[in-house]
Amino acid sequence: MIFRQLFDSVSGTYTYLLASRRGGEALIIDPVIEKVERYLQLIKELDLKLVKAVDTHLHADHITGLGALRDRTQCITVMGEMSKVDVVSMRLAEGDKLTIEGVALDVLYTPGHTDDSYSFRMKDCVFTGDTLLIRGTGRTDFQNGDARAQYDSIFNKLLKLPDETLVYPAHDYKGEMVSTIGEEKAFNPRLQVKSVDEYVEVMKKLNLPNPKMMDVAVPANMRVGYAQEAIAQRGWSVSAAEGIRLVGQPNVALVDLREKSEREKHGMIPGSLHAPYPDLAANVRPGGMLYELAAATGKRMLFYCAFGERSAMAVQAAQDAGITSACHIQGGLDAWAKASGPVVR
Ligand SMILES: [Fe+2]
Repeated sequence: MIFRQLFDSVSGTYTYLLASRRGGEALIIDPVIEKVERYLQLIKELDLKLVKAVDTHLHADHITGLGALRDRTQCITVMGEMSKVDVVSMRLAEGDKLTIEGVALDVLYTPGHTDDSYSFRMKDCVFTGDTLLIRGTGRTDFQNGDARAQYDSIFNKLLKLPDETLVYPAHDYKGEMVSTIGEEKAFNPRLQVKSVDEYVEVMKKLNLPNPKMMDVAVPANMRVGYAQEAIAQRGWSVSAAEGIRLVGQPNVALVDLREKSEREKHGMIPGSLHAPYPDLAANVRPGGMLYELAAATGKRMLFYCAFGERSAMAVQAAQDAGITSACHIQGGLDAWAKASGPVVR
């Protein structure tokens, strides 16, 4: 297992790089834009392939590295389903799993610091974002923060994990790097309360100034979506409404790029092939499944995914590989469902 805790000293942010092996797939949690070159260097040195970049919540104190990492590596961007960010490639909910090769994290919805705060648990450790910090908790006075919800997330979810579970937060300002659930239960001053009302009072009295970066970071972090417009301008996009008319046509092959778990949870467009995004490079090169299908049948290759991000990147890769009929459904299955397109389970 490869596990790296990286630090941005300007914002006091911890970023985590995980992989099951050298040479394998990697994921990164809470990357900071100014550190993207450093992450890419380390990923190269460890011979890893970055496949997912995840934010625990919409950050107010730094600009996320999600968009930059996606543009540099074509990785998938991931946030929770409650996030108001414009577009990420994949959205997760409580009970889902965040997976890469050899690594699976349980998704916990832990609102309170913000209403889009999630924690990710992996075996004996938990990445708590700003929900539970070391000897502290994330502030709850902006971005739809809610001390009552945070109390519930901490006391009824995180503190229910085994005491020896290692706690890796998104921030620390005093140089602490890791704690445990048992330690925080016993020594976190904010958690030494007898009731939710007492916790709400503690949080109300904090009176913190707004983060310096807030006015810049929040609007920037709301817009991390891939420029699907650029793909549309090249004539490689189909609207959901146009796509609905193409279902069942003999000259069109619909290709679903999502993961198996997303197909099971959200359903799929009838008659679509499954070609998961992580296998894309192999599938679009000569000899690959999609390349040969396009060449043998002359069919128009119509990609789709959850929100149109993976499919937009796939169209570019397929066109670059010589599949000139490649196009995608703009906005993905999300736009498809809103246009009342047929979905099967
Ligand atoms: Fe935060």
